[in-house]
Amino acid sequence: MDIDNIIKARKTQKVLPNQPWPDATGDLQLKATLEELLDLAAHAPYHYPCHRQYIAEKELNSCMPFRFYALDRTKCRATSQYIDEAGIEAGKVKNMLDGADALLIVTWLPEPSELNQAGSKKEVSFAGNLTNMEHISAASAAIQNVLLGATARGIPNYWSTGGPLRSQALRDYLSVPMDEIIAGTVFLFPESAPESGVKILPGGMRQQGKEKNTWATWIS
Ligand SMILES: Cc1cc2nc3c(=O)[nH]c(=O)nc-3n(C[C@H](O)[C@H](O)[C@H](O)COP(=O)(O)O)c2cc1C
Repeated sequence: MDIDNIIKARKTQKVLPNQPWPDATGDLQLKATLEELLDLAAHAPYHYPCHRQYIAEKELNSCMPFRFYALDRTKCRATSQYIDEAGIEAGKVKNMLDGADALLIVTWLPEPSELNQAGSKKEVSFAGNLTNMEHISAASAAIQNVLLGATARGIPNYWSTGGPLRSQALRDYLSVPMDEIIAGTVFLFPESAPESGVKILPGGMRQQGKEKNTWATWIS
């Protein structure tokens, strides 16, 4: 597929099995594919480096303003099991953890402000400024790179807000720091998912608002 067709073929696919799926792709092959997708994320444009505090204090100390926390299939299934054991109400997220080959939890790094103190028990709030806006934009571009790379490889994918994955309980379990803000949680499913017969939900806004003259205009 050329790039235009990959962009047009990308679509939300929420794959919802009722039972944990066994291994559908070899682990080594899967790991190599996931590493390729992470490499694509790093090619996204970004403008401002993250605040020096993140670079000085964190193990993940890139100057890029986003971070990726990757769960492989085994960890997806373990997380689904933990959700049961901990009595967390996770709805469709649990079904998707039972089906996913991988989950990428993508955060962006807000500029420090009085709104986000280290050690916060809640997901931090953030100041409305240009730097933060551009950090969010950069994280979004990185996510889109992954979605397009997945689409090109025939991997069904879904960008979710994350729901229960944003809670402190699951962040603590997965070691996703509370002072970072989740830009999206990306589920990647086996290529064979569409032929499996399980329920797959599309994105609710797939067809909405697309008429070009309602969102683009030429300035003359
Ligand atoms: C920032 C962001 C967050 C999203 N979060 C959710 C979500 O929590 N639940 C959901 O059903 N879809 C979510 N989506 C997917 C959209 O519903 C989907 O992109 C939209 O319906 C258009 O469908 P398409 O992706 O197939 O083009 C999210 C998309 C974006 C960009």
